[in-house]
Amino acid sequence: MATPADPFTPGQAERVRRLRTDFARMLMHHQFAIDEMLTKVSILREEFLHLHRYNPIEHISSRVKSPRSLIEKITRRGLPLEIDAITANITDIAGIRITCSFIADTYRVLETLTSQNDVRIIEIKDYIAHPKPNGYKSLHAILEIPVFLSAGPVPIVCEVQVRTIAMDFWASLEHKIHYKYQGDVPDRLVEELTRAANAAGELDRKMEQLHAEVHDVDSPAEDDDSDGELLRLLLRLTRDEG
Ligand code: GTP
Ligand code: MG
Repeated sequence: MATPADPFTPGQAERVRRLRTDFARMLMHHQFAIDEMLTKVSILREEFLHLHRYNPIEHISSRVKSPRSLIEKITRRGLPLEIDAITANITDIAGIRITCSFIADTYRVLETLTSQNDVRIIEIKDYIAHPKPNGYKSLHAILEIPVFLSAGPVPIVCEVQVRTIAMDFWASLEHKIHYKYQGDVPDRLVEELTRAANAAGELDRKMEQLHAEVHDVDSPAEDDDSDGELLRLLLRLTRDEG
């Protein structure tokens, strides 16, 4: 029997215990997927830096959805309390946000990431080419990657958002305003935000143009590869190791 001190019947208590264990395992698997993704992104970043001597990624952040916000979403969506139904319907339990310097980099980074053959694309939404009515811009990708557990690989879904610094600046302010007004943002602020989104877009275009003028990323860093220069470098390396 449930009592005020013990709100669960024995049957419920057993179910809650099982759910907690299953939830914890599910969240852990999503953290593993994030770890895998972060490794992929950081390898891409290092390699790009090595090849082109410039870093296309300014910042990477990640999070596993908090149990509270997960439960709120399950309730909102009217989902059954079953792990399979939850993971099939909620695709942002694992979230990664990649902030790039320039618009071209956002596409380049997502393209390189999704062309890896253990990454399965579930959905891509291009809110850069097609911004939301409020001005929100980002690339969103729902991706599935295998996580290698002791019993074998398990496919895990994660949401990857790729945006520029300007888009990120705008989105975090918009999020704060949205949160403060509980979604009921005054018209004046909505208009100001839309104007700010346009200004951010303009800034992105200007910065990209300037960047293109000083740095041609498609051609690898220029090297003097004459035999004389190579021999001189080799000699220096041999001496250093020497
Ligand atoms: P959920 O919003 O997660 O229920 O799913 P959805 O199908 O609406 O996905 P969507 O791709 O529209 O947005 C997913 C995530 O993108 C959100 O959780 C936010 O992190 C971000 N996002 C989407 N729209 C906005 C926006 O208007 N402002 C801000 N600040 N972030 C947004
Ligand atoms: Mg949404």
